[in-house]
Amino acid sequence: MTQQLLQCVEGTHDYFGAVGRRFAENLATAAKVFALYDYERIVTPIFEPTELFARGIGATTDIVEKEMFTFQPGGEQLTLRPEGTAGVIRAYLQHNLHKDGLLHKLWYVGPMFRRERPQKGRQRQFYQVGCEAVGSSDPMLDAEIIALGLHYFSLLGITGVTTRLNSIGCPACRPRYRSALREAAAPLLPSLCENCQKRYDRNPLRLLDCKRDAAKTAALPDAAAFLCAECRDHFAAAQEFLGGLGVDFQLDRTLVRGLDYYTKTVFEFTHPALGAQDALGGGGRYDGLVGELGAVEMPAVGFAIGVERLMIAQEALKTCNCEPPLPVFGVALGENGKRAICGLLARLRHAGVPAAMDFGARSMKAQMRAANRRGALLALIVGDSELEKGVVVIKDLRGENGEQIEVPLAEFEQTVREKIRVKS
Ligand code: HAM
Repeated sequence: MTQQLLQCVEGTHDYFGAVGRRFAENLATAAKVFALYDYERIVTPIFEPTELFARGIGATTDIVEKEMFTFQPGGEQLTLRPEGTAGVIRAYLQHNLHKDGLLHKLWYVGPMFRRERPQKGRQRQFYQVGCEAVGSSDPMLDAEIIALGLHYFSLLGITGVTTRLNSIGCPACRPRYRSALREAAAPLLPSLCENCQKRYDRNPLRLLDCKRDAAKTAALPDAAAFLCAECRDHFAAAQEFLGGLGVDFQLDRTLVRGLDYYTKTVFEFTHPALGAQDALGGGGRYDGLVGELGAVEMPAVGFAIGVERLMIAQEALKTCNCEPPLPVFGVALGENGKRAICGLLARLRHAGVPAAMDFGARSMKAQMRAANRRGALLALIVGDSELEKGVVVIKDLRGENGEQIEVPLAEFEQTVREKIRVKS
């Protein structure tokens, strides 16, 4: 009986080859861009107590209501993190980072888990690159963090990103807005979808981002008209600073975000290549979350970007993800040649030159084919006759009839360096 081949779980993916390279590049670029803005990396656990997410993200959000992977080993309720913010703020409080009174700028990358219906750009395990700046309410920080996100897209070659911006107020002014929304939506209620009916009582702001009922909810009042003076001034200043940084944005009254912790500025980066799930990333200010999870109040702002969605946009835009050429491939003739090649490659690698060889005892022709397939620039060839003469053959693999020279063993490293520097 043949066993059925096991597959990864629906909504999860393997990344390797060209996709794996792009994935790694996107993470490496994230580290570079966060360093430019002086963010420090934080690593938090992949699972946390369920209560952290229920309290942090909000009990009536889609995530907490129906999308969490929760398990109970030995009676303890644990959840695979559906997002990064709650864990970062838990760590911030647990390690008393608030005590120095400084602004803490933290970034992270890692897998997140949501039990959503899988489709293009929507997975059950996906990666987020995100950041949280905790300790300042300055609207200039809101503008800087949006500029950081856009800087990241530009380094990745992702053009055509739209920045959508809104302010959803604070606990002082939002209750009035909520009541106004409920009042205006009441006559529409019987005709709204099941989701909106549920949201009407529990989270009426989310009536605004229902795609199905968009035409019906278009006439609902804007948050802007209900902002208190502080939120209004904060939002105006954030927009002015964005203008100062040369950031184009679109005000979007329907942008309310799906997590409960937001206050004041909210934003989303969207891209047309993504289709229905068009958000590359999103975030905003969350001045109440630190107080919600701990005993101190501390304003904060952050965002997260979906790495798989970046890859969809990059694929559509055909941003280059060429395989990097390998500088040197070692070709061994016979057992002695193989030992010698192994030692020469070790010397190159310790000098910082990437190099590889073919294992086993294949013919020279097969090894040269492997070198070409790998896109090597130079082949280093050694057999018994080279060893007797104390030389190594260096063959240039670029072009049709690459030159081939014999170099004394003592000079091979220098020659390799010169050749890859000059021609590559
Ligand atoms: P979010 O909007 O839920 O925000 O997720 C941020 C990004 O993660 C989305 O824009 C999308 O690119 C990606 N994403 C979300 N769900 C999925 C999924 N099922 N499959 C693939 N990609 C997905 C947050 O998570 C907040 N923690 C962001 C934040 C940080 N706000 C303040 N600080």
